[in-house]
Amino acid sequence: MEKLVESVKKSFEERFQRKPLLIASPGRINLIGEHTDYNEGFVLPGATDRVIVLAAAARDDQRCRFYSLDFDQEFEVSLAHLKKSSLRWPDYLEGVFDQFLKMGFKIKGLDLAFGGNIPIGAGMSSSAALEGGLAFIINHIYDLKLDLLRLALIAQKAENEFVGLRCGIMDMYASLHGQPGKVLKIDCRSLIHEYYPFDSPELRVIISDTGIRRELASSEYNVRRQQCEEGVRILQAYYPAIKSLRDVSLEMLEENKPDFEPVIWKRCAFVVKENMRVELACQDLLGQDFISFGRRMRESHLGLKDEYEVSSPELNILVESASKVPGVLGSRMMGAGFGGCTISLIEVEAIEEFKKKVSADYLRITGYQPTIHLVRIEAGTRIIENNNN
Ligand code: GLA
Repeated sequence: MEKLVESVKKSFEERFQRKPLLIASPGRINLIGEHTDYNEGFVLPGATDRVIVLAAAARDDQRCRFYSLDFDQEFEVSLAHLKKSSLRWPDYLEGVFDQFLKMGFKIKGLDLAFGGNIPIGAGMSSSAALEGGLAFIINHIYDLKLDLLRLALIAQKAENEFVGLRCGIMDMYASLHGQPGKVLKIDCRSLIHEYYPFDSPELRVIISDTGIRRELASSEYNVRRQQCEEGVRILQAYYPAIKSLRDVSLEMLEENKPDFEPVIWKRCAFVVKENMRVELACQDLLGQDFISFGRRMRESHLGLKDEYEVSSPELNILVESASKVPGVLGSRMMGAGFGGCTISLIEVEAIEEFKKKVSADYLRITGYQPTIHLVRIEAGTRIIENNNN
């Protein structure tokens, strides 16, 4: 991380000839609770040691100059003319400015350089880290005194309205609120969270990246949201008080099954069960029962694969291979799906065997090497250095 900070800082100073505010904004993992956030349900993510480092300094005009170290691309825009860019990464930044402007804040332009070690597009929410990081910077520079939840909501709206993906709140929430060695159980209805310890010295979290990036993920994601909304509409005829799948039980679904197209029913049943799994998984954590916790991860994967149908052959290969390694307690696809990565909970002694077997199986079946990352659960978005008062 120090090297990353140094290179972002150096790049900023050389390019813009000024001293920056430096912050770190992490990518997240999610242990369990997938596709539940936009149904006002529960999730169990944590911030990781994979971060984007952002260096920024305010300007006193409307200009924004952004530089991405990883893409080695520069982008300039005026706050008066925000518009989507063919480079794509500037959209995440412009979207955040757009929200602050819509909220009526009198903010000016920014010089910004950033680079990171979150695998891009892998399902570890590099985009949320970028959006949340910029919201954090603007809040700090202009002393707006918005709390972290407000910043998460701004980042989410940026993604919903400017980028056009109707994502839930989990990614930016977790990235901003993370704490070392703790996961957050977020209630995505009340937007209140509780921390649960997740720091057993015998266990580690492994992220295995399929290397597959599917555009499909974003269109199918919005389709899943619509399917959940449709399920809610059907049930509202019988239970007018229902507002989201959070209010739905398996009994309600069973009773009214004939009213549902089978595919809609399956989607809803997954979400209801996944919410229950998160609650039970939190009990497992309190009781330090990682065996049971791992089993729930496995059940979550099967639901994502068969009921919610957002997994992919590559994700399934990684999960099946991981599950055969002695010492792996649980493994499942993570994030939106269709590509990206899996998350596995593993005993420390089994790590080498995991790397060997999972890489070999994946290579044999797909012809590609997966990328395997050991991640730690770390602090959320934070200031690293402030030379810019
Ligand atoms: C993506 C979205 C999140 C969440 C997950 C699925 O990461 O950005 O809001 O819906 O997919 O759990």
